[in-house]
Amino acid sequence: MTVNEVVKFVDQIVFDKTGKHLDDIQTAVIAGTWERQTYDDIAQKHNVTKNHIGDVGSELWQLLSKALGEDIKKNNFRSTFERLHITSSPIIIQNKNKQNNNHTFNFSSQATFQYNKGEQDNNTQKYKTKTIYHDLTLAPQIIKFHNRETELQTLTQWILNQNTRLTSILGTSGIGKTTLVKRFIDLNLDKFEIIIWKSLKYPKSLNLLIDDLLQVCKQEPEKNLDDKIKQLFNILTNNRCLIILDDIQNIFTPGEIAGKYQPEYQDYQTLFKLVTETQHQSNIILISQEQCPEMESLDIELYPIKSLEISGLYHPDILQNTGLKNQDIWLDLIKLYTGNLMFLKTITVLINKNYDGEVVEFLAENTLHITQQMQSYFQETFNRLSPIEQQIVLQLSKFETPIYREELRETLIETLNLSSVNFNNGLQSLQQRYLVVKIKEDKVMFSLSSVFREYMRNLN
Ligand SMILES: Nc1ncnc2c1ncn2[C@@H]1O[C@H](COP(=O)(O)OP(=O)(O)O)[C@@H](O)[C@H]1O
Ligand SMILES: [Mg+2]
Repeated sequence: MTVNEVVKFVDQIVFDKTGKHLDDIQTAVIAGTWERQTYDDIAQKHNVTKNHIGDVGSELWQLLSKALGEDIKKNNFRSTFERLHITSSPIIIQNKNKQNNNHTFNFSSQATFQYNKGEQDNNTQKYKTKTIYHDLTLAPQIIKFHNRETELQTLTQWILNQNTRLTSILGTSGIGKTTLVKRFIDLNLDKFEIIIWKSLKYPKSLNLLIDDLLQVCKQEPEKNLDDKIKQLFNILTNNRCLIILDDIQNIFTPGEIAGKYQPEYQDYQTLFKLVTETQHQSNIILISQEQCPEMESLDIELYPIKSLEISGLYHPDILQNTGLKNQDIWLDLIKLYTGNLMFLKTITVLINKNYDGEVVEFLAENTLHITQQMQSYFQETFNRLSPIEQQIVLQLSKFETPIYREELRETLIETLNLSSVNFNNGLQSLQQRYLVVKIKEDKVMFSLSSVFREYMRNLN
C-alpha cells in the first residue's frame, strides 16, 4: 500500500464521518505518520507547532478508531493498517444483502480498497452497506444486438478503466447510439452502485432533472440549484454512479448553428463543465445527434472527456429474421442505406410489403427509395438547421459526387452572397450534426450523407 493510497483511504473515512475531506495538515499527519516521521518533523515541515500537530493527530486517531473498530494511535497506525491487509483491488460493489467480513471503501479515484477483519462493530458495518439504486425504467430493453464489439471495448476502456467522467455517444438518428449504451449497461450493471437513465426527448430544466436524480437516490432536494448541484456531486464523489442523458440534442436551439443551448437549458453547460473539472468517481454519458463544445476535448490525453462517433453497422446479421430473401446481397442493401438501422428497418417493411421480401427485385430498380418515415425524419432535420446550413445543404445536394471545399465555397459566395465566415461556420455545424461527410483525398472534399442527399434531390 502506498502513502497516497493510505491518504485516500483515510480521506474517505473522514469524509464519510464528517462530510469534509482531509485538509493539508491532516494529510501531512497521515502521510508523515505512515512514513514514520515524528510530530516534530511534520510540524517543522509545515510551519506549525508540534502541539497543533499533536491535536490534529489525536482527533484523527479517535475518528479512525471509531470507524474501524480498532484502537489506533500514532505508534500503531502503520502496523494496524498493514495488519488489516488493505489492498488496492478491482472495483468491488457490495449491496445491502451481502453478508461477509469484507469492508469496501470507494474513493474519488477509481481505486477501491478492501480489508478483512474478524470482528465488526456498528460503525464498520456502515461501510459495507453500499446501497444500489438502478433506475433504468426509461431505457430500452435490448432483445437483438449485433456486433459493436469494438465500440463496447472502447467504452469499457474509457469508463471502467480510465475513469472518463464525460463520454458522448454521437451520430445521426437511428444509427444505434441508444442501443449501444444500453448494451454496455446490461453488461456492466454490477460495476455501478447508482445507474440512472434519463431521456431528454422532452427536455426539462436542470433544476427538475437534478430533483429527479436526487429522488432516485432517496435524497430530499435542497431548495436552490447551487445546493442541489453540491448534493449531486456529493453522490457522484461517494458512489460509483453512471448517469445517462439520452437525446441531448433537444436542449440545443433549433434554427441555429449546432450545439447552442436554448436559454432555459443553459445550466446544463455548467453541469457538464463541473462533471469534467471536479474530482469524483462517476461517469456521465451524453447521447446526442449534435456535438456541443463541452463534448470536445482539445487534449484527449489530459482531460477526462471522450467522444465516440457511431457509424453505420455493415453486417448482414442485422437483417436476420426480418423476412427478407436473397441473403447473399443483403450487404448491398445495407450499404445503400449507410448501415443506418432505422432506415433499414423501414425499408425492410417496404420490401416485405411491395416486393414480397425479394431484395434482388428491389435493388434491380437501382433507386434509393426514401420511405415515408425517412421523409418525416429528414424534413424535421432540415427544419432544425440554421438558414445558412440550409443553403449549404441545398447547394451540396446538387452535386452527385463529393465536392472540393474551395469549389463549394466559391459557388455559395457567388450565387448566394454568403460570407466566408458564415460558410465556414455552417459547414462545421453540418459536420457536428453528422449530415455532411468529409472525405480526404489529395484535398478535402465534402458531400451530403447519401440518403439525405436523395431526400433533398426529390424535393428540388
Ligand atoms: N447493434 C445493434 N444490433 C441490432 N439492432 C440494433 C443495434 N443497434 C441498434 N439497433 C436497432 O436499430 C434501431 C435504432 O437504434 P437506436 O439505438 O434507437 O438508434 P439511435 O439512438 O442512434 O437513434 C433500434 O430499433 C434498435 O433496436
Ligand atoms: Mg436514441
